[in-house]
Amino acid sequence: MTYSEEPETLDRNLAIEMVRVTEAAAMAAGRVLGWDEKELADGVAVEAMRRALNGVAIEGEVVIGEGEKDEAPMLYIGEKVGAGGPPRVDIAVDPIEGTTLVAHGMPGAVSVITVAEPGTMLRTHVAYMEKIAVGPGARGAIDITRPPGENLHRIAEALGTPTRDLTVVVLDRPRHTDLLAEIRATGARLRLIPHGDVLGTIMSAMEDFTEVQVLMGIGGATEGVVGACAVRALDGDMQARFWPRDDAEVRLLREEGYEPNQILTVDDLCSSQDISLALTGISDSDLVRGVQYGPRHIRTHSLAMRSRSHSLRWISTVHDVSWLRASGRRLALEDPRVHAER
Ligand code: FBP
Repeated sequence: MTYSEEPETLDRNLAIEMVRVTEAAAMAAGRVLGWDEKELADGVAVEAMRRALNGVAIEGEVVIGEGEKDEAPMLYIGEKVGAGGPPRVDIAVDPIEGTTLVAHGMPGAVSVITVAEPGTMLRTHVAYMEKIAVGPGARGAIDITRPPGENLHRIAEALGTPTRDLTVVVLDRPRHTDLLAEIRATGARLRLIPHGDVLGTIMSAMEDFTEVQVLMGIGGATEGVVGACAVRALDGDMQARFWPRDDAEVRLLREEGYEPNQILTVDDLCSSQDISLALTGISDSDLVRGVQYGPRHIRTHSLAMRSRSHSLRWISTVHDVSWLRASGRRLALEDPRVHAER
């Protein structure tokens, strides 16, 4: 290609546009950090995210959202969002990933949004999935049907590192007692997190940028799909299995067309060739800092990734408080209890 053949216009990178959406949600949610008000935090984050999303030129449908239409007034599954297309896209929203973290003022809370081609994200109403995720260096080395220790040895071999140098991120839950013992027996290190396995999944798929190489364990199913979109965009690898809690969930799975023991590959979870993902820190984490509020400026820290170009952008934004006020962005500025009273 000669210089004159280079495209004169850049194609759209929706991940960058979506950063404005997750920034809006994070700035609203960050206002109530540590208030022990999960619903209030979620309410303002959802409202801010929805407003911002409806300003983006897409024809979007929420496929992973705040719940069914009758239980969630905003960003419910099936809600049409965006200012109009093209492109037509499916959207997974998680205005707050880690609501308890926000409620308790703890690190690791982010606002996340994922955009993919229509019909490419797995849909389920079952709550949990067992997951294993790694970055590009260990692609092809994982097999969720094999014991955790065997997986860790295979991952270590693929990465050319001793197993004891691996760090595995796992949700700190009683259901993981045996898993933790098996991981410890290999000599690998552990990062136990109280919440937020989407971030854990993304970190494990970004082996060059983080201290974590593997995510293991049972977490939210929709979080598994969002995590898989990121893993795919990052060229990593992931497998999952549904973790139905009772017979009713087994029946539900079958009604949805799945088998309870089915192995889900990263492609089963998200098959899109064009994935855009944006996340903004609400509280600090290894990947992005939380929102910083100042008298004249608010600063946010985000990550934008796009599968087509494999680009990763850390975007640090300074938001001018006067401009936010003038443009009516009250959710980022005010005590949301004041907002609720209006
Ligand atoms: P929320 O933000 O919806 O509270 O989810 C937090 C989270 O920790 C997820 O990251 C994780 O997948 C899931 O909850 C784990 O569920 P549980 O807390 O029931 O084990």
